[in-house]
Amino acid sequence: VTAAYGPFLQSNEAGHLELDGCDAVELVERFGAPIWAISENTVRRNLRELRDAFVHVYPRTRIAYASKANPEPAVVRIAKLEGALVDVVTMGHVRLVLAAGVEPGEIICNGNNKTLEELRWALASGVHAINVDSLDEMETIARLQPCDAPPARICLRLAVDDTRFERDDPEFASHWRGAKFGLDEADALVAAELAHRHPALSFQGLHHHFGWSAYGTPYDAELDLVRHRRSLEQVVEFAALLAGRKIPVGLVNLGGGYRRARPYGFGPGAIREAPSAEEYAATIGGGLAELSSAHGLEEPVLLLEPGGYLVADAVILLARVGLRKTRQAGEEVRRWAFLEETSAYHFVRRLMFGFSHHVVVASKADAEPTETVSIAGPICADDDVALEIALPPLERGDVVAVLDQGAYCEAVASDYCVVPLPAAVLVSDGRAELVRSRETLDDVAARFSVPSWLEAEQPQLVGPA
Ligand SMILES: Cc1ncc(COP(=O)(O)O)c(C=O)c1O
Repeated sequence: VTAAYGPFLQSNEAGHLELDGCDAVELVERFGAPIWAISENTVRRNLRELRDAFVHVYPRTRIAYASKANPEPAVVRIAKLEGALVDVVTMGHVRLVLAAGVEPGEIICNGNNKTLEELRWALASGVHAINVDSLDEMETIARLQPCDAPPARICLRLAVDDTRFERDDPEFASHWRGAKFGLDEADALVAAELAHRHPALSFQGLHHHFGWSAYGTPYDAELDLVRHRRSLEQVVEFAALLAGRKIPVGLVNLGGGYRRARPYGFGPGAIREAPSAEEYAATIGGGLAELSSAHGLEEPVLLLEPGGYLVADAVILLARVGLRKTRQAGEEVRRWAFLEETSAYHFVRRLMFGFSHHVVVASKADAEPTETVSIAGPICADDDVALEIALPPLERGDVVAVLDQGAYCEAVASDYCVVPLPAAVLVSDGRAELVRSRETLDDVAARFSVPSWLEAEQPQLVGPA
């Protein structure tokens, strides 16, 4: 096992993979398989790494964990303990983050289509900020909020200005052109006036997020920083425009999208390189200080909303090998090993965007990779986990670890073919505790029913008896 996996993932004396002091094979023996194992220390390390790098160059920085990446209350709780705010997009998120002990005043409400129930809850609870995404939403809030209520904190999400990328980043520009998120400048001006003038709304500032969802577009570390710099310029120029209208911007939330480099390749196109935390901090934190001063603005509070950066490499999916098969592929031989009760349907970004997830044989972590093997699950569709990778010979019962499962895996897993969703366990310095119970077939079956008139009808006899 290589140092590239990070300080909390290594092999132990038994030759097994060990995550945050817990033997992966023992985890499977104790909690069953498949199971997501979440490393507490990795989440803490990632959060501190990003926060410290930013605070170093821009002391007024605060982290808000984008809980959509992994809304496990245990993970949210770790973020809170590390001093982070938490972003939510649905009432489902609200439910889970409150269960994690997060206070309403620590919650940032994102989303382009908040329901009236969500808006009423956010206004009445005194959340940290409502990031307003449209003029319609701003007008709805202004109507819902009684003039004598305690002021609710409002930020405006600016749409990505695709024209800034048109010339030399055309795929990125066309990904964002007319996209559903955020306000165009003209609408944002009206919304800012409305929030600023309303007696029970407190206009805080601006939000902007482009993330790394533009999967089909080119990516390299340098381009990533250029995209952040251009977004920052857009936000600060708009803040200056508002300042000219006597609407001060005290807060700038630059969203998420920070990637962690995985030297063995991870994500779309198996990316190996990304900016370091220090490089992100220099571009974004340093850039904000420089641009604020250039525009004669006071330095605003800088919020970051990282999701994947904090959790992607903190989770591994552990599963057992079942049957194997060897197939002829022309002149070549292809060996398959199949995982029991899990597959890429439990981390569907692989199916949607071709995400690459590195695989380690947890029960033979130090063994030589002498075979080329492809790994898939039991689903009646292409559900491969990895194709043609070098691993030690696999046998029935071996425990396989699929790495980098922390972001948008558990959160978006599908139970296609009625393969129940795995359990999850939090591991930390050798301790392990179940944090998500395994879905059972009883859970799944209990969701469905057959209408009474179909139950009552007798089946026809068709075809040979
Ligand atoms: C508004 C907003 N903030 C933050 C994030 C987190 O992004 P990431 O996980 O890429 O850091 C997202 C993800 O979609 C988002 O939509």
